Formats: sequence, structure tokens, C-alpha cells
Amino acid sequence: MSKPDTKQTPAHVHATTRDWAAYFDRTAGMPPRETLVGALDTFGEIDPSDPPLAVDIGCGIGRDTAELLSRGWRVIAQDSSAIGLERLRSVPQFQHAIETGQLRIINDAFESFTPPSCDLLNASFSLPFCPPADFEAFWSRIDHAIKPGGSFSGQFFGDRDDWSILEDRTHLTRTEVLSRFEDYVLHSFREEDRPSNHTGEAHKHWHIFHIIARKRTK
Ligand SMILES: C[S@@+](CC[C@H](N)C(=O)[O-])C[C@H]1O[C@@H](n2cnc3c(N)ncnc32)[C@H](O)[C@@H]1O
Repeated sequence: MSKPDTKQTPAHVHATTRDWAAYFDRTAGMPPRETLVGALDTFGEIDPSDPPLAVDIGCGIGRDTAELLSRGWRVIAQDSSAIGLERLRSVPQFQHAIETGQLRIINDAFESFTPPSCDLLNASFSLPFCPPADFEAFWSRIDHAIKPGGSFSGQFFGDRDDWSILEDRTHLTRTEVLSRFEDYVLHSFREEDRPSNHTGEAHKHWHIFHIIARKRTK
């Protein structure tokens, strides 16, 4: 988790603003993340009389939460962005799920949030925004929350990503990522290490690990 001393480019300046409202505008209506869909497929049909529980951390405006609900899961959706959660609450599908108790929303930061025991912990493009000083403790709370036989789906950012020099992001090497999953079976481990398709100030080098993993039962 070292921070190389590299010159900041326009993409770094762009990234430091953390303009989540603009991000939510850009991603509104987009389909669920492939890692979530892949993890859900490994569970197959669920028992509607005893639905499993997913915790969607850094849920944003509910791109993945919507898919979980539509497949019958109970969901705890957590994020520190009040703007994003307000948008989420304004959507009839989510309002209905809150009223029936299928969905609970938690406005909290990774730094203080303790996920409850769950069958699936989904962290789509959110964990890297946990500050490095809080990351190990948060990961250990995540790992503790995932039941034996339960799953993790989500992304980590790698050390070759352009944003790795930003002090408030957590970037891991491949070895550091894999070491977190020694007690898991990896269903999918995909490493993306490439320049972005963006032009202008958003252009950057991406280094991302996409993971679907099932915790061993013993
Ligand atoms: C790149 S977005 C991903 C949103 C959604 N999961 C998706 O796949 O589109 C990162 C999310 O993490 C949330 N976030 C960033 N830092 C956070 C923190 N310290 N605590 C809780 N949530 C945070 C942001 O508000 C945002 O919704």
C-alpha cells in the first residue's frame, strides 16, 4: 500500500474532487455489475420463505441493490453519500422494499460501519475509497461479517492504477489482494491493467481486480 511519488496529471486533479453527484448522474440506469451478477448466479434459486441477506457497501444510487431486490434477496444498502441515498429513496422500487422490510438503508462511512453477518458482501468499485489508515480494520470487519459458505463480490484497485498516488485511496498489489482470500474459493479473479477509453482530463491508467469468492465452510 505504498504511495509512489509521481507527478499529478489532470486525471488526478479530476479524481480528487470526488464529485459523487456527477458520478451518480453518469451511471444512472446502468445495469448491475458483472461481479454481482456472477456471485448471485452461484447461489442459484433462493428460498423466498427464508431469503438470504446481502450487504451492499458503497451502494451509491442502488445499481446493484436493485438487482439483489429483484432476485428476492434482503438487502442492507450502505453509503456515506446522503445525496446518493436520497436519490435511492426516491425510487418507487426502493420505497416499496423499505416499506416491506426487504431493504434497509444505512448512511454511514466505511471508517465506522460494521457490516452485520451476511450471505453476500457486495463492494462494487467502493472499497478503494476507504482511506488507507482505516482499510485493514474495515476489511477485517467485512471478512468477519461474511458467513462460512457466504460470498464476496467486488473490486480492489491495484498498485499500477494512476490513482494509487492519491493519499485517500487504498490500492493493493496482486499479492496483497490474493492474501485476503486464503479462506475463500475464488470463483472469478480478473485483473484489468490498461489505459482508459476516456479522452481529456478523465483519461487514466486502470488497474483493477474483479473478484467473486466463496468463503470456505471450514
Ligand atoms: C465509484 S462509486 C460506486 C457506486 C456503486 N457501488 C456502483 O457500482 O456504481 C463509490 C461509492 O462509494 C461511496 N463512498 C466513497 N467513500 C466512502 C466512505 N468512506 N464510506 C462510505 N461510502 C463511501 C461513494 O459515496 C459512492 O457511492
